[in-house]
Amino acid sequence: MTGFETRAVHVGQEPDPVSGAVVPPIGLSTTFAQTAVGVPVGPHDYARAGNPTRDALERQIASLEGARHGFAFASGLAAIDTVLRLLVPGDHVLLPHDAYGGTFRLLDTVFRPAGIASDPVDMSDPRAVEAAWRSNTRLVLVESPSNPTLSIVDLRAVSEIGRALGGIVVVDNTFATPYLQRPLELGAHVVVHSLTKYLGGHSDVLGGFVAVDDDELAERVRFRQKAVGAVLSPFDAYLTSRGVKTLAVRLDRQCDTAEYLADLLRGHPRVRKVLHPGLPDHPGHDIAKSQMTRFGGMLSFVLAGGREAAEQLVTRTGVFTLAESLGAVESLIEHPASMTHAVVSGTDLGVDPGLVRLSVGLETLSDLTEDLWQALDSLPA
Ligand SMILES: Cc1ncc(COP(=O)(O)O)c(C=O)c1O
Repeated sequence: MTGFETRAVHVGQEPDPVSGAVVPPIGLSTTFAQTAVGVPVGPHDYARAGNPTRDALERQIASLEGARHGFAFASGLAAIDTVLRLLVPGDHVLLPHDAYGGTFRLLDTVFRPAGIASDPVDMSDPRAVEAAWRSNTRLVLVESPSNPTLSIVDLRAVSEIGRALGGIVVVDNTFATPYLQRPLELGAHVVVHSLTKYLGGHSDVLGGFVAVDDDELAERVRFRQKAVGAVLSPFDAYLTSRGVKTLAVRLDRQCDTAEYLADLLRGHPRVRKVLHPGLPDHPGHDIAKSQMTRFGGMLSFVLAGGREAAEQLVTRTGVFTLAESLGAVESLIEHPASMTHAVVSGTDLGVDPGLVRLSVGLETLSDLTEDLWQALDSLPA
């Protein structure tokens, strides 16, 4: 099975050998029978360490990322937290200057007091990673495209630098998904995801994922997954597997719509700037082209009227729902400076207060366009 879509539908999702059910049943059991002490009947003994439904999802997504090993967690942040637990006090982390706010908060308020320091870096110039590297830097976390400014990092270049300097290179691939970008093939050691977004795809499951190809590193993650225990439940694993099967068709449509809207929005007089890596004048366009198959279903734009206009706009759409999160079938609109990125607002890492972020869903294109236009036209000139 070599095709992406074929693997998304079939890997880990083989018919049940007992009943022949084409959709594998959800395994809810928390414990598994043993024939003698320490000799389980099957591959599992206790569900925190593994269960059939989580296994199926772990195989499915690992296959899509081109990884030998996959680990599913109860949220994206639980996945990132577990990877950061590879570090010990005294270690140092580099993270993107525009990292997801929750990742920044985790490092700043949980790991820093525990002795693991971190520094934000604008990674759009890979040389800045080298310049910020300290003798105790052990891990570099990268996001591309980033949230919410959709800046692009050259994953090959940063992976090469991270590897040469002896760090673990971790890429948060939530925005791109393995359908559009496979960081392990570009040189990263670890991929993390919020499954809550495109992979789940329907705004009804919270989850996280870690994909690793290296066997030794995978064993260290596996141990922490079991020891810490922030694992994905079987029911949520089932829902995520179901979402992953349609990832490619959903994303193709979302990429089409985002490209169309990005181009159109540039012509609206209330819009100062559109941020989408598919636009030829986006500073990361050429790198995005070289490492992604398409440019994704997210776009942001800055309103000429600043914060006030942005706060008004997000309450005036009807098809786009005002809500956090992204990547699902429903189109969403949000104001990062006061919502997803409020935690960094007022700091050097704060986002432009006039910035609005769109997550494009699967509604009819003309409905989405008309909805945005009536909201934009309603703003004061
Ligand atoms: C890029 C990125 N990484 C990680 C997360 C955290 O994921 P979760 O909300 O599933 O914990 C998010 C959530 O918005 C995200 O956008």
